[in-house]
Amino acid sequence: MTETTSAPPADERAQLLELFSSQAHLEGDELVLGGWSATRLADEFDTPALIMDEVALRERARRYRDGLARRWANSRVIWASKSLPCTALYRVMHEEGLGIDVAGGGELVMALAAGADPATFVLHGNAKTDRELEMALEAGVGTIVIDNFDDIDRLERRVRDVQGVLVRVRPEVEAATHAAIATGHADSKFGLSMDDARHAIDRLAQSDRLRLDGLHVHMGSQILDTAPFARAVEVVAQLGDFAVYDLGGGLGARYTHDMVVPSVEEYLDALVGAARAHLPADARLLIEPGRSMVAESAFTLYRVVTVKHGERSFVAVDGGMGDNLEVSLYGQAFDATLANRVGRGEPFTLVGRHCESGDQLIESVRLRDPKAGDLVAVPVTGAYCLTMANNYNGALRPPIVMVNGDDARVVLRREGYDDLLRRDQDWS
Ligand SMILES: Cc1ncc(COP(=O)(O)O)c(C=O)c1O
Repeated sequence: MTETTSAPPADERAQLLELFSSQAHLEGDELVLGGWSATRLADEFDTPALIMDEVALRERARRYRDGLARRWANSRVIWASKSLPCTALYRVMHEEGLGIDVAGGGELVMALAAGADPATFVLHGNAKTDRELEMALEAGVGTIVIDNFDDIDRLERRVRDVQGVLVRVRPEVEAATHAAIATGHADSKFGLSMDDARHAIDRLAQSDRLRLDGLHVHMGSQILDTAPFARAVEVVAQLGDFAVYDLGGGLGARYTHDMVVPSVEEYLDALVGAARAHLPADARLLIEPGRSMVAESAFTLYRVVTVKHGERSFVAVDGGMGDNLEVSLYGQAFDATLANRVGRGEPFTLVGRHCESGDQLIESVRLRDPKAGDLVAVPVTGAYCLTMANNYNGALRPPIVMVNGDDARVVLRREGYDDLLRRDQDWS
């Protein structure tokens, strides 16, 4: 075993720090967010925990909001809440003036509980149930996205006044990303083909209850090239002139130092450039960022449970695929550092505590002399980690701790063992 106790090169630490959010800095060897060192966060809130930088989150929401408004005045940013469905997050996005994309009844309930305005909600889903459509109508959701012809039948039976709808179009534009998170290709389960979209548009034109406001398109997630976004605009424009175009989400987040990701501004330039070229000048533009809105504002704080040295050396932490399925589902690459000894050392495989060999957070990451009891921070875990958190091996889903300067508060509590028993009924 090589001891790596001397200070690592400053540029390596600076590179690591770049993956953390705006309130993050170093004090000596320790990672600090706002007024909270990693050690103090772990002592106060325990591990594993999702640590959310509220300052960075709000900065990002404003950057999107103001960036879009500057380029296209008649527009709104709609936060794709599937990326981090937690009532406190809905509240923040609502306070920042964003609309909310809800996919299903559960997200709708949380958005309403946060006090967000249902007129700004966009309801999605490729299989919305009767109950979910009724909930949306009852709540006064502003826009419902038609994903199939059954959506039209169901809504026509239920709507009493007039309901604004968009038709989701499958643009058949391939965007390079993992197959599990691509949605705009020809054989995607989402949306309607161009031909079916034309039929849906004709049908909706006859409806006296469903008001067709426009079109929706979304090609997938973690897309790192702006060209497919622009191409999709060009494709939907072929369906005619409408009042509203919802251009979806999908911009990637920067998970590792070597990744090149378009900035919010580059993405907006590409999208709005295509809109100027192909869409009516008076149309309303909506966009639905999720991952790129929240991913980089949070990190997951774990504690090292054990270090196993060998041909391949493992650092095992007190979480894993119970709180981060991004790795096993789409092979997402992450980086990490010890939070109480920031820097690079020998290579280790960072693994979780679950009973699967696939429960691996990072194949190879250079950690600085890790020992049981040390803290590990995995940056850029704000998106889809809590979303897909689960109770594998009876794991307790982690809390979200929101940090703003000297203030740190639990906005979503950690599950307790009693939560695992709470749904039991008639089992003896
Ligand atoms: C309809 C729709 N809009 C927006 C998003 C958000 O995508 P992302 O988180 O990649 O920005 C998704 C996610 O898959 C989606 O399905």
